[in-house]
Amino acid sequence: MRNFSFDEFGPGTRILHLDRDMDPGTAVGPAIYQSVTHYAESGEDFVVKSTEPLNDQFYARHGNPTTSRIARVIADLEGAEAALFASSGMGAITAAALTVVSAGDHVVAQTSHYIHTTKLVTQYMPRFGVNVTQVDQRDIGAFEAAIRPDTKLIIVETPVNPTMVLTDLKAVADLARARGIITLCDNTVATPIGSNPIALGIDLVAHSATKYIGGHHDLLAGVVCGRRPLIEKVWDTSTILGAIAAPFNSWLALRGIRTLPLRMERHSQNGQAIAEFLEKHPKITKVNYPGLPSHPQHELAKRQMRCFGGLLSYEVKGGYEGGRRFIQNLKLPVNAGSLGGIDSLVIHPSAMWGGRLPPEVVEKQGITPGLIRMAAGIEETADLISDLSQALEHV
Ligand SMILES: Cc1ncc(COP(=O)(O)O)c(C=O)c1O
Repeated sequence: MRNFSFDEFGPGTRILHLDRDMDPGTAVGPAIYQSVTHYAESGEDFVVKSTEPLNDQFYARHGNPTTSRIARVIADLEGAEAALFASSGMGAITAAALTVVSAGDHVVAQTSHYIHTTKLVTQYMPRFGVNVTQVDQRDIGAFEAAIRPDTKLIIVETPVNPTMVLTDLKAVADLARARGIITLCDNTVATPIGSNPIALGIDLVAHSATKYIGGHHDLLAGVVCGRRPLIEKVWDTSTILGAIAAPFNSWLALRGIRTLPLRMERHSQNGQAIAEFLEKHPKITKVNYPGLPSHPQHELAKRQMRCFGGLLSYEVKGGYEGGRRFIQNLKLPVNAGSLGGIDSLVIHPSAMWGGRLPPEVVEKQGITPGLIRMAAGIEETADLISDLSQALEHV
């Protein structure tokens, strides 16, 4: 038995040791529990286990010891009482949002969100009688003006992908708290190393753990963290949606998250160096990265983020054709969706979003034809810059 608390250590240390006592044996590497069902001692015990929120030793749709273990590590990093580790980022966001709203309620969301969150609020919620108002996330007055007596939920996401626009989390949380409205923040791009929305007053924090938390482009998972009573309600929704993560993905996430602080250092170093290089490049007209002093919300970024991460976007001269030629000539970053893994990725958002959302929605989100989104990986900084430089010669 240990006679000390891990609270005395920093997050980069706790991430490695905090969950040790969740293993009944003494294995240093986490065990993986593939079992879908656990036996009960009696009928009464069965009833207790089957109804207890977040019980991880009844049936795998309710929880699993490996899943609980990664949930505990992320809850600690986010400064939350509890977390539910979900099958995907969208599983986490949908379970959280559907826990809070019912038919007849109103939701405030941003004009720009991750594509499927946009779909959730613009196409799905209205089908179930939930009214949604979307606002420009840069304008706190717009959030205030959109709130109605029946508003139950405010959904935010910062920095938003691919335009890297920020939301002032404390200002939104203050507005919501004063009115008893629940706030849900998608913190995927900032990561729990870069930003902790709960400390700023946000109620529920979600991540696509597929991204930086997993970090290796080899698992699909999500998480939602918050106060325990709220997470217990999200868990209840999740038992209906079947939104819990699989044990193996939970185990991969436990393995990945151990190096998150280290990886974020390199992602941020690469993101910053690339942003600074491109900002001076004659073939680039604009760079969107919160770590650049030229970012219109750089002061806000410094206030609510501890590092600026590896995600950035930039506009290549020559519009759609310029963007296409640039991507075709890159040697290192792979043209693939997703972000947050060790390998650098690029996408051409106007091609990707344009095929999936109506043109007016794409335009409203600031996605121009020459815009490139890049998720800087952990390759050597000089190699990435020289590759970008040679690819730009073809534009
Ligand atoms: C910011 C953000 N939120 C949520 C999601 C959804 O995550 P998942 O694919 O794990 O469902 C993504 C996926 O790209 C994302 O980028």
